[in-house]
Amino acid sequence: MEERLICICNGVTDKEIIETIVQEGIDSFEELQEITGVATGCGRCKLRALDVFNSYLAEKV
Ligand code: FES
Repeated sequence: MEERLICICNGVTDKEIIETIVQEGIDSFEELQEITGVATGCGRCKLRALDVFNSYLAEKV
């Protein structure tokens, strides 16, 4: 899978988001934000970040 930069402000990629979900066992977007900083700057990436987060969790079930 090609890595995509999701959050420009904090340099967070989709791969990093998924790795964080797996490693930290997180289940809320807020927790993901605390750990990675994704969508805590300008907020413009929030929808993309949520999409990565929700798609991953949806596929896992
Ligand atoms: S691009 Fe993610 S907070 Fe600005």
